[in-house]
Amino acid sequence: MKKILHIISSPRGAASLSIQLGNAIIKQLIGKYPGSIVHENNLVNEQFPHLEEAQIASFFTPAQSRTPENILAAKHSDDAIDEIREADIIVIGAPVYNFGIPSALKAWIDHIVRSGVTFKYDQNGAAGLINGKKIYIAMASGGIYSDGPMKPFDFVEPYLKHIFSFIGISDITVFRVEGSAIPGVQDTALEKGISSIHLN
Ligand SMILES: Cc1cc2nc3c(=O)[nH]c(=O)nc-3n(C[C@H](O)[C@H](O)[C@H](O)COP(=O)(O)O)c2cc1C
Repeated sequence: MKKILHIISSPRGAASLSIQLGNAIIKQLIGKYPGSIVHENNLVNEQFPHLEEAQIASFFTPAQSRTPENILAAKHSDDAIDEIREADIIVIGAPVYNFGIPSALKAWIDHIVRSGVTFKYDQNGAAGLINGKKIYIAMASGGIYSDGPMKPFDFVEPYLKHIFSFIGISDITVFRVEGSAIPGVQDTALEKGISSIHLN
């Protein structure tokens, strides 16, 4: 039995390929770990605000000195980090938008990557503070980036792998539905993505 957190960042609901791929990953996870509990965090329905001065000021105020305003400003961040701490496995839906990730997903990342809470700096440099988690990324893209001429322009997989490793989660597997905009590829893209799922 595992606690699974599903992060959704596509606004396309049932038509979304990253959501369908994420759900297929979760289905296999439940098969492997019967009784698993899934908690969904839809970043499109419940948006994380862009970081403003109030949040940054709160993040850099020591916990014992925080005012009620500081506490309120950090609530999105505290809640999101609690969700991550509670999960054993995190499935992250990542549509490719303009060679990057949707701003809703980036806003969430800005709230969970927090100095002194999810990473720290010491004499040896940066160290992640979140341990023992597994991440599956469910990527969806109109083009093909896993191989071929567009491969150098896959900024999403390296970015996501780096940022989660930075906070201590380096056990990361990426599955893709790709080529959904390419005639001759699009019709089988979802099926191919789902059949590529092999849990480790
Ligand atoms: C605003 C926007 C930007 C996009 N940019 C890219 C892109 O840079 N590269 C690409 O391969 N596909 C791009 N696409 C296509 C999406 O990655 C593709 O439709 C994917 O399936 C979206 O994920 P979803 O199905 O989960 O919503 C873009 C789509 C949208 C709506």
